[in-house]
Amino acid sequence: MDKLRIQGGKCLQGAVRISGAKNSALPAMAASLLTSEELLLENIPLVNDIYTARRLLRELGAQVEFDPSNHTVRMRVPKIESIEAPYDLVKTMRASVLVLGPLLARTGKARVSMPGGCAIGARPINLHLKGFEKLGATVKMEHGYVEAACERLRGANIVFDRITVTGTENLMMAATLAEGRTVLENSAMEPEVADIADLLIRMGARIEGAGTSTITIDGVRELKGATHRIIPDRIEAGTFLIAGAVTEGELTLTDVVPGHLSSVIEKLRETGVALDAETGKITVYGPHDLSPSDLTTREYPGFATDMQAQYMALATQANGISLINENIFENRFMHASELMRMGANIRLDGPRAIVAGKTRLTGASVIASDLRASASLVIAALVADGYTIVDRVYHLDRGYEKLEDKLRSVGAQIERLK
Ligand code: EPU
Repeated sequence: MDKLRIQGGKCLQGAVRISGAKNSALPAMAASLLTSEELLLENIPLVNDIYTARRLLRELGAQVEFDPSNHTVRMRVPKIESIEAPYDLVKTMRASVLVLGPLLARTGKARVSMPGGCAIGARPINLHLKGFEKLGATVKMEHGYVEAACERLRGANIVFDRITVTGTENLMMAATLAEGRTVLENSAMEPEVADIADLLIRMGARIEGAGTSTITIDGVRELKGATHRIIPDRIEAGTFLIAGAVTEGELTLTDVVPGHLSSVIEKLRETGVALDAETGKITVYGPHDLSPSDLTTREYPGFATDMQAQYMALATQANGISLINENIFENRFMHASELMRMGANIRLDGPRAIVAGKTRLTGASVIASDLRASASLVIAALVADGYTIVDRVYHLDRGYEKLEDKLRSVGAQIERLK
């Protein structure tokens, strides 16, 4: 298993290009199942989850051609060869459940392994399943698999009990081919949902309101091929903003949509970080002194849970106490104990973390427990005295494209140990 070895104390300076959004590219690839024509997706991030999605879609009958040098993927599914997302792929990547809606809409059948819990929480998919039932599917659980079947799906009014990102995407995709109108209320408003709606509209779907809490979909008989550019990854961008901020650096991010990062930008300004945002670009100027600021994670446009771990690393360097409330997942503080091993002063109290700064962090061997926790440890390592070894880097490789190369290009001393 690869590890990262990071020597702290370097100030990050220069420019970094932000890759396409993993959490948009994954549902976009699943959307290829909705048509027999070709989808060309641009700005695909070269991360391991995308390769897992490729494996899954190939099993289902997709022809998938990657062009890593251009960050594009061409996909065509002339015929669905299998309706099953097997356990070994779903357990590797929960986002595999995104094939449920498209398979059901195109073939009237889907068999998808039930994802188990993961490092950040139980993460049930009951709201996806309830929605498919509302659209007329029968859904049962057999041998650890969700088995769903229907004639043609029928439009319905669905009010989500709580906001779910992939749940909204799964049902929106399914509803594009349903008979009649579907209205999704209390939908996720994340930019990735709006991005998938843009792709589906290019494919001929009739969708209004994506990016707001009410999405209306008028089903059509079939969808066609399309070309679509994936939006920039706002979580990768936010991670670099925090890395620049804590290292007293001056870092310019290109290929970003600053509007997608409003809550992160606002929070960083509260801590004394200066930022300039213009179209497609953000520059962060890390101050000598950071001020503490409390944080509660919320659905978009609130502060993303996917940025909470990175913010905690920053909070260890702020002069005073920051309260961090994790409001989306029940167990997303695994990074706290590793940060404490590096010298952070953090007390956990249920869904709340109390971080007392500023602490001197010292390099240590730490273990990454999930994707964003790993990013938090890398950020802490960048300011720690001495060397940090971050183990289980495969978590990072699932969702950050060439993180160590990008960091090294702006001055970090970081290397991968094979
Ligand atoms: N929930 C339910 N029932 C459901 C669905 C969700 O109770 O049927 C709960 C979840 O357990 C959680 C909350 O609702 O407490 C929100 O979960 P959501 O469904 O929105 O999460 P997700 O769609 O599984 C996506 C991202 C995650 C990100 C969350 C929240 C993708 C592929 N994944 O997951 O990304 O943390 O939304 O914003 O889009 C990551 O990239 O590191 C990552 C974990």
